[in-house]
Amino acid sequence: MRLRNVKNKEEIMKSSKLLILDYEQKKGKWKNEFENNNPIYIEIGMGKGEFILNNASAYPNVNFIGIEKYDSIVARAIQKIESGNNYPNNLRIIRMDAKNIEDAFSNEIDRIYLNFSDPWPKKRHSERRLTSNTFLKKYDNIFKKNKEIVMKTDNIDLFAYSLETLSQNGYVLEKVSLDLHNSDIENNIMTEYEQKFVSKNVKINFLTAKKGV
Ligand SMILES: C[S@@+](CC[C@H](N)C(=O)[O-])C[C@H]1O[C@@H](n2cnc3c(N)ncnc32)[C@H](O)[C@@H]1O
Repeated sequence: MRLRNVKNKEEIMKSSKLLILDYEQKKGKWKNEFENNNPIYIEIGMGKGEFILNNASAYPNVNFIGIEKYDSIVARAIQKIESGNNYPNNLRIIRMDAKNIEDAFSNEIDRIYLNFSDPWPKKRHSERRLTSNTFLKKYDNIFKKNKEIVMKTDNIDLFAYSLETLSQNGYVLEKVSLDLHNSDIENNIMTEYEQKFVSKNVKINFLTAKKGV
């Protein structure tokens, strides 16, 4: 995602109630932050946050955490979400690179969403893909016993790669579609990238993969 530098991003981030700066202190204790025992779903690479916001509004009995690497994108997401008067209280944001995800969570996540993740097409960068063996091993440590990854992408090469790595890492595919918007999969909440692709008639690949269920 390309975004121009947001000049006052530090101020926006510092004054936000949504953004959790001391996420390392919450590791293993996120239920205290939400003050309930509801399941916790995270989106890695949330962009400007439309998907996670709409999910938090639609599912008040689930806690949602959006993770994003870049300050400017996080600042835009905060502005957008906090400009709504009644944004949901089951939503938080963390600014970090997902390569450090084990600093934030320990055996407490129920579902990970990977929406339109960067494809890193060059083979020498393949371990940076969010479904590489390196990342899947990190996710094993943040998930509870039952693990679930839900992925959407326009990129068929990343999708094929992910089918392979997920099955190599013990995941069982529950739902797979090469054309989500012409499938019988229901209750889809669109992301910003998805809206752009759908308007150009690009097919969206979708999967749900589970382990330990
Ligand atoms: C192509 S955009 C998709 C945004 C959003 N999920 C959507 O579907 O509209 C990918 C996003 O993932 C973020 N991202 C990529 N690698 C990341 C990482 N390792 N950790 C956290 N965020 C990452 C990028 O900064 C970007 O905002």
